[in-house]
Amino acid sequence: MSAKDADARRAELLRREIARHRKLYYLDDAPAISDAEYDALERELLAIEARRPDLVTPDSPTRRVGGEAAETFAPFAHHTPLLSLDNAYGDDELSAWAERLERALGSAPRGFSVEPKVDGLSIAVHYRDGVLERGVTRGDGITGEDVTANVRTIRSIPLRLLEPVPRLEVRGEVYMPRSAFQALNRRREEEGQPTFANPRNAAAGAVRQKDSRITASRRLDCFFYALAAIEGADRPDSHVGSLDRVRELGLKTNPRNVRCESLDEVREAIARLRESKHELDYEIDGAVVKLDDLALQEKAGFTSKFPRWAIAYKYPAEQAQTRVRDIVVQVGRTGALTPVAELEPVVLAGTTVSRATLHNEDEVARKDIRVGDTVVIEKAGEIIPQVVRVVPEARPDGAPPFSMPRSCPVCGSDALREEGEVASRCTNVACPAKRREALLYFASRSGMDIQGLGDALVDQLLVRDLVRDAAGLYALDGAALAGLERMGEKSAANVLGQIEASKARPFHRVLYALGIRHVGERAAKVLAQAFGDMDTLATATEQALTATAEIGPKTAASVRTFFAQEGNRDLVRRLALAGVRMAVPEEERGRSDAAASPFAGKTVVLTGSLPGRSRDEAKAAIELLGGRVTSSVSKKTDFVVAGDEAGGKLEKARALGVRVIGAEEFERMLGAQ
Ligand code: IVH
Repeated sequence: MSAKDADARRAELLRREIARHRKLYYLDDAPAISDAEYDALERELLAIEARRPDLVTPDSPTRRVGGEAAETFAPFAHHTPLLSLDNAYGDDELSAWAERLERALGSAPRGFSVEPKVDGLSIAVHYRDGVLERGVTRGDGITGEDVTANVRTIRSIPLRLLEPVPRLEVRGEVYMPRSAFQALNRRREEEGQPTFANPRNAAAGAVRQKDSRITASRRLDCFFYALAAIEGADRPDSHVGSLDRVRELGLKTNPRNVRCESLDEVREAIARLRESKHELDYEIDGAVVKLDDLALQEKAGFTSKFPRWAIAYKYPAEQAQTRVRDIVVQVGRTGALTPVAELEPVVLAGTTVSRATLHNEDEVARKDIRVGDTVVIEKAGEIIPQVVRVVPEARPDGAPPFSMPRSCPVCGSDALREEGEVASRCTNVACPAKRREALLYFASRSGMDIQGLGDALVDQLLVRDLVRDAAGLYALDGAALAGLERMGEKSAANVLGQIEASKARPFHRVLYALGIRHVGERAAKVLAQAFGDMDTLATATEQALTATAEIGPKTAASVRTFFAQEGNRDLVRRLALAGVRMAVPEEERGRSDAAASPFAGKTVVLTGSLPGRSRDEAKAAIELLGGRVTSSVSKKTDFVVAGDEAGGKLEKARALGVRVIGAEEFERMLGAQ
């Protein structure tokens, strides 16, 4: 036997084994080998395929790994619309649905499927000759987006069915398991990135990722709940039968689906599901009830919006009562004081809640929340607990109203609430609570993007006095990090590498990372372009600052206040000494000589398409030259750049007498300085 044949045979054997174990794992919930052993099978197949590209098949595990980032998702018109369901809140509405159904059918309905209503996003998946062909989001129900590259990364969705049916379309719900969601948010928090409010949002974000490598890292999962079309094979005559068929083909269906004969059984199944809701590793917001017989489904038909043969029974938002043990006040990066309720721990929607933010002083006053009060809490988006209201009759005698402290609870300095602001702020620039938040902000994604420098690490660095401010980060070394918790040699090297790499971040990011009030990403870019380097900015007068396009008096004053403080100037000096960028590079500055550019200080609107430049590129070019790009034309607009097929904005510009520039003139102006 030649070596070639041996490879082909081995690859074939591995594929069969992989398919068998996938079924045991994903469908039967009875894995026969460990994850590591399974991975070894996939790795061996990958190694053969790397050596022998001629042996790669469409269901190769290599095809799951995301490739290049996509620019956009192509629209795809669904063969039949993806409908949503009418809702029933409570038993009466369920009975009303059953009565409507009876009228439509002419007899009392019997035979139902009751299924968990998984809170994710619906998806249509197409197979041709048993091979995954396409995955499409719901979109508006008529047209969705082709997200095939992302769907491929969902490991429980097979790339090849267990039988080569010529054509199949199935629909289901993609979701993020709670455990994956929590791990993702923990990671994001550590990296200083914004967290997702709930698993549904996290799943939706992952499915619509332009870079499928990111989707692949998000551990999505999917349950299929409908057989939309099957060709070249018999179609069962019941919904439950169709789902059995879907499962036989290797697609995952929800093991909690049950068939019920009568409406009473349906009610019991709904109640049972509600009770077991918190045992599930995914969120459900209700139960879906469907008439099982497909001929009867057809007879029942549709209203203008929904199928008459199905209904979504929604569980009410869960609430719990508990007692406010204390109201503590936290201090954020800008020194803002936030009241937080410490609660008697209580289980709510499956997790123990012991804290809830009260947002600000006015909010506490509005709800009149006091220490000792019994309160009703609810989870916003099932995740973040909120105090809904106080139970007034349970208030202990003599409980005083809450009053916001007039000094910082961390450092004791004065806390002031300025006119028109909701928050009181600590006035001490060196407040330790501010330091912590300032470091996290410095390292955040829009700032210096130092991955791995999250809460846990920053706290340790501050407590052990290894770092006092951002400049201190650049003096850290392996020895300093060695004794910290959860910090192996490898992670220490990673963090140090990230810190080192941050020195090369563009100047405007450094400016943002300093956390000057009112200087967000946009203002940081404008200031960097207009002043070019830190020294010039630090010594700029308030007039010079306000004379800059887009910089208002509030921002100007805040920049002056920042640089007026010796502590801040010292921080900037030490950052410069560490090698952090303190200027826009010469070559970029030449182009941005604001005075010389026809766009300096001008407000520009782009419309139509410009040859050779995307909208984003044109915008970046104008901004680089000190201009500002807005989206709608008004009297304040200086120029409208009109490319091909310019529409309403061009008309409006003409009507208002705003100067219109064609594509050629635009290019000349860009090169003008
Ligand atoms: S059936 C025409 N079954 O809930 C029937 N939907 O409001 C279409 N969903 O858009 C849907 N679990 O995203 C069905 N077992 C289930 C479901 C389910 C979750 C979602 C789905 C749909 C929405 C309906």
